[in-house]
Amino acid sequence: MSSRDQILSLFRRKGAAFLSGQEISRTLNISRAAVWKQVEQLRELGFEIEARRSQGYRLLTGPDLLLAADIEAGLAGGIDWSVHCLAETGSTNQDLRQMAEQGAAEGTLLVADRQSAGRGRLGRRWESPAGVNLYCSLLLRPRIPPQQAPQLTFLSAVATAEALIETCRLPVRVKWPNDLLVGGRKIAGMLNEMSAESEQLHFVLLGIGVNLNMTAQQFPAELRYPATSVLLERGEPVARLVFIRSLLQRIDALYRIYLDEGFRAIRRRWEGLSDLLNCVVQVDQNPGLQVGTMVGLDEDGALRLQLEDGRIERILAGDVRLL
Ligand code: BTN
Repeated sequence: MSSRDQILSLFRRKGAAFLSGQEISRTLNISRAAVWKQVEQLRELGFEIEARRSQGYRLLTGPDLLLAADIEAGLAGGIDWSVHCLAETGSTNQDLRQMAEQGAAEGTLLVADRQSAGRGRLGRRWESPAGVNLYCSLLLRPRIPPQQAPQLTFLSAVATAEALIETCRLPVRVKWPNDLLVGGRKIAGMLNEMSAESEQLHFVLLGIGVNLNMTAQQFPAELRYPATSVLLERGEPVARLVFIRSLLQRIDALYRIYLDEGFRAIRRRWEGLSDLLNCVVQVDQNPGLQVGTMVGLDEDGALRLQLEDGRIERILAGDVRLL
């Protein structure tokens, strides 16, 4: 963690109280002049820091930045988090894959303020403007067979939906396989990837993109289907830090449940967030259409569709809509 981030984390721990320059310099083992320089840098980033001659510094307000120190502060739980924040990158999934291949540990989280080549499913582009949304990728190394890795897609979808419901009070619903919608408009998407060799899973990358404070003008005109953001739905922004903290806490809790109890509990929660469970739906498999009742998820994440003659068809890919 940089000295700047360490100072920020000391401020966070102090709350409204003052922190003396001497205390910072002693804790971080840097000179008083270096402390002052870092405080100035924080001010340039938009942090409001009060300085009092005999008492030191205290943090008053901060901008909606995503900094590792802020994200990690107070994160407890089973996952050993290691958060890295980038101002800009091509794609956090792509960067994290490289880190994973070089041995990065489970719990490594890469967050970018902007992505220049954000990737969506099926080779699509994920619109990733700066300063408004959440783009992150998490590395997990569970000891599960590779065919079970898609189960974690549903875990990330449930965690993201629950975090949006908790922090933004939005009626978020899941759409198979891994979209989150509000009023039929897409608000978040998951791009999960894995690396495996025959029967051994090396790692899973959970890529999560959430449209938080994006304005209507920031959405490209030619989107494949209607999209929305928290700002557009509520008419007011959400602090990205508050949202990501809630998301990580939920991922942590759900991952523990998953490792202890298996996919069942995750599946139940995902099904509870679906509007289409037990409804007659049409699945566009391009080419080919299937009609049936959506009866839930299979162990590998396939959609279970009950056909008119009672047979269960497993859907592996396709676009599902209410008939
Ligand atoms: C989709 O619905 O098509 C999936 C979108 C996934 C976007 C996220 S943003 C963070 C991570 N990095 C990427 O390049 N993509 C995922």
